[in-house]
Amino acid sequence: MSSSVKTPVRPLETEPRRARFRSHRTSEFTESVIREMTRLAIEHKAVNLAQGFPDFAAPEEIKRAAQQAIADDFNQYAITWGAKPFRDAIAAKYKKWYGIDYDPEREITVCCGATEGMIAALLAVTNPGDEVIIFEPYYENYGPDALLCDAQRKLVRLRPPDWTFDPEELRRAFTPKTKAIILNSPNNPTGKVFTRAELELIAGLCQEFDTLAITDEIYEHILYDGASHLPIATLAGMRERTVLVNSMSKTYSVTGWRVGFVLAAPDLTDSIRKVHDFLTVGAAAPLQQAGVVALNLPDSYYEKVSLEYQKRRDLLLEYLGQSGFRCYRPSGAYYIMADIGGFGFADDVSFVRHLINNPGVAAVPGSSFYSDSNAGATLIRFCFCKKYETLEEAGNRLRRI
Ligand SMILES: Cc1ncc(COP(=O)(O)O)c(C=O)c1O
Repeated sequence: MSSSVKTPVRPLETEPRRARFRSHRTSEFTESVIREMTRLAIEHKAVNLAQGFPDFAAPEEIKRAAQQAIADDFNQYAITWGAKPFRDAIAAKYKKWYGIDYDPEREITVCCGATEGMIAALLAVTNPGDEVIIFEPYYENYGPDALLCDAQRKLVRLRPPDWTFDPEELRRAFTPKTKAIILNSPNNPTGKVFTRAELELIAGLCQEFDTLAITDEIYEHILYDGASHLPIATLAGMRERTVLVNSMSKTYSVTGWRVGFVLAAPDLTDSIRKVHDFLTVGAAAPLQQAGVVALNLPDSYYEKVSLEYQKRRDLLLEYLGQSGFRCYRPSGAYYIMADIGGFGFADDVSFVRHLINNPGVAAVPGSSFYSDSNAGATLIRFCFCKKYETLEEAGNRLRRI
């Protein structure tokens, strides 16, 4: 460039003027509170009962299968919507467990965890201004997911102690603009397992208002006290209007693998695959091979998952009860919602900060599961997908609140 034409050099702006580079989309949500609590827990060496990942080993046979797949050179991109043997294994598992047929060629998309599955599904089916119904309290990702799609959230309350909803409130949430309802059962954070009657009511409204059910069934095998999981897709009229999202993360204790999948009718899958392709190209190829081994584990594996978690649930319920918490007993998933009203703290966030600093146990403030933080101010969530000794250590510390 000629030295006579000087381009003014603008110094890089610092906060807050750097807001120029912050999209409106991202400024509407904050960092994940759960991950923030995990960071604080590490800083303060607290027992981490905040983020829902196991601190025990994943099943040996799955780990060996993953190692073998890498040694066998499954190291390049798999087909973008998923390696064929893995899609076949997913189809076979749904047939076996729920008697439902999914065509691996046209109805299954493997993606990077249920997290990608949910956002890919929403991006694929919503337009800006569409409404999406979400039961509240909700798994925190659904809020940003809707925002990233420019969709409007319509919240319907699940109320303790049983986390039931008011059918009239749900009906009022449905409008001609409703594109989808997100349904997470077994539910994080409440542990609720939706009953057949509730699912039938939701299914009826989906059909009346021509709405999709986008389901997050990641805790399908973590069930207590005889509860059973019923995919809404199996109900009459729902097969074609359900987008079923699931993942290996929780069932096989491999949250770091980032392998999930979405099952939906061919027209929906077509759109979902397009979004998925440009978001991530595909999930880790060797881990999809190991997924085939995982999905073919015998029934006894799944029985043990529920039984083991039930023991951990009962242990943590006992510790929490002894320490003065009023707990809502979960029927599924691996979290306990506890009421902290008796402790006299200003709110859930100050209580959790105290827990992390003082006895040294991390949990998640209840408000992070509600759009209105006042709504969750007397609740906190503990997770119990931890070794017995981790839970015992937490129990000992909690006595010192
Ligand atoms: C309800 C729910 N959905 C999705 C996820 C994340 O799933 P994945 O690890 O498959 O992305 C979690 C993790 O805690 C969850 O609780």
